[in-house]
Amino acid sequence: MCGIVGYAGSRQAAPVLLDGLEKLEYRGYDSAGVCVHNENGLEPVKAKGRLSVLRDRLEGGSALPGSVGIGHTRWATHGAPSDRNSHPHMSWTGKIAVVHNGIIENEARLREKMLRKGATFSSETDTEVVANLIGYYYEKYGDFVLAVREAVVRLEGSFALGILCKDVPGKIVAVKKDSPLIFGFGEGENFIASDVPAILKYTQTVAYLEDGDMAVFDGDSVEFFDSTGEPTEKKREKITWEMSAAERGGYDHFMMKEIYEQPKALRDTISPRLRNGQVTLEGIDLSAEYLKGLRKIYLVACGSAYYVSVLAKYIIEKTCRIACEAMMASEFRYCDPVVGKDNLVIFVSQSGETADTLAALREAKARGAQTLAIVNVVGSAIAKAADQVIYTWAGPEIAVATTKAFTTQLSVVYLLAMQMAKTLGTMSVGEYNALISGLESLPYDVERVLSQRHLERCQYLASRYHAHHDAFYIGRNVDSGICMEGSLKLKEIAYLHSEAYPAGELKHGPISLIEDGTLVVALATIEPLFDKTMANIKEVKARGADVLCVTLEGYEEQAEKIADSIIAVPKVHPLLQPSLSIIPLQLFSYYVALYRGCDVDKPRNLAKSVTVE
Ligand code: F6R
Repeated sequence: MCGIVGYAGSRQAAPVLLDGLEKLEYRGYDSAGVCVHNENGLEPVKAKGRLSVLRDRLEGGSALPGSVGIGHTRWATHGAPSDRNSHPHMSWTGKIAVVHNGIIENEARLREKMLRKGATFSSETDTEVVANLIGYYYEKYGDFVLAVREAVVRLEGSFALGILCKDVPGKIVAVKKDSPLIFGFGEGENFIASDVPAILKYTQTVAYLEDGDMAVFDGDSVEFFDSTGEPTEKKREKITWEMSAAERGGYDHFMMKEIYEQPKALRDTISPRLRNGQVTLEGIDLSAEYLKGLRKIYLVACGSAYYVSVLAKYIIEKTCRIACEAMMASEFRYCDPVVGKDNLVIFVSQSGETADTLAALREAKARGAQTLAIVNVVGSAIAKAADQVIYTWAGPEIAVATTKAFTTQLSVVYLLAMQMAKTLGTMSVGEYNALISGLESLPYDVERVLSQRHLERCQYLASRYHAHHDAFYIGRNVDSGICMEGSLKLKEIAYLHSEAYPAGELKHGPISLIEDGTLVVALATIEPLFDKTMANIKEVKARGADVLCVTLEGYEEQAEKIADSIIAVPKVHPLLQPSLSIIPLQLFSYYVALYRGCDVDKPRNLAKSVTVE
């Protein structure tokens, strides 16, 4: 959701900015723009639509001279996507240019104030208010940095800002609160960006700005200030992953590449935490005394990460015998949750930036709960704000639809549940050892599901079902959580209406929607519940449904007698089974999306990091 990039150095800025924006495309956007400081002063160029429109307008960047600039991809919040509403925005004085990621909550009041001061507006955006506010204080004090400071203390909401001033060539001021911003240190050049891939081609040395931090820089030097305006030092961090991790590497889409990266991502996430047959989550302090005193564990997240939380409820309750509740982060804050000292609240997030999840985390902390985050992006806001953090080592996830982040989050849930169960003594030695060996072989089992045979089967099934208008996913126990994720994958990338229900729930209402030819995807991967799910399949078959059943190897023959088509996955430890069952559903959605001509990596209306509530 919105991406910003800034460059100061000796190269031509526009191609560097366009390059950076391209790497931020995954965040989701509907328009883009850049502004460069050159001999004409501040020169903004913006375009609604894909980045290629802006790139063509700028002849790849070569048409815009100047070696200092800022760029932006916009995901519309205030005002429809248009050239006019695209960033960068200029102050009415023409002296200040701003790119902004986030939302200014008091924009209406500030807009009134600026109108009274004589400012004019040419867009509907909250960002133009920021540009005018800085412009106003610049006129008042004649000092670029002071003007930014004066403006920023008056802003409510979230922001990462990159700012240019016409009278101060060569300089960029950047500041952040509740939206991500990194600083990149180069040789004779410096960068800012919303995320690492935007600048990785140029530097691997970065600093993660904290809320309230300001960076004032040109190509040769940078000064950092903290929220009180005092000079501060920022720790330089080395990015360990290569640029290739954020490139498609021969695959047609990032989504397919990331589906295939799952065995490695699982290995990287699980292996370092298994030592001498034990789970060791370094730095995680959950004593027996603390765990025994817990009334309930909450699991809070959005979207697919919420579905991991739904699965975690089954897994943690089964292994630890502690009551758990999965909650959508967007609801958590507004339902006056019964949360306090005797609750552990676990937050799950790939990006570590999701606004609702971050806000829920702050709420849980304010109510005195211990917080633990499962996060993929190192140094992200959620990782920093939580009391304890366990990283998924999935590497950068670029496709909007999550795949490898989902399966690695799930693997962390297994590890955490096992560590807690061991501490509490709620798991037998035999069961613990069985899970350890199941976890050790999980990456290999996932590799098996990614075989050419399965791939072709999923492609065939997609060719058979892609023209359907509706799909219903049904399953029991952990299969019902996987149904939610499978159903979300289908709707988000293939734009096929789809719903998920626990299989036993269908006859309490939704079954009235089943008619001749309705697609039902039924998951039957839990042995003790196999017959029950088959009975539910018979119910929908009796009403004309076309049933695709995902089941275990060895159960094909029985399932084939009832369902119309089958895909079988290898049988593993029952608690780990969801990690395999989701793979064919990811592949199925991918191929359905291709058959329907959808843009798999950049589905309409969606953003990778949802940084607004
Ligand atoms: C779906 C998807 C989203 C995210 C959700 C939370 O494929 O990716 O539903 O899971 O927006 O995002 P994070 O995990 O970054 O908090």
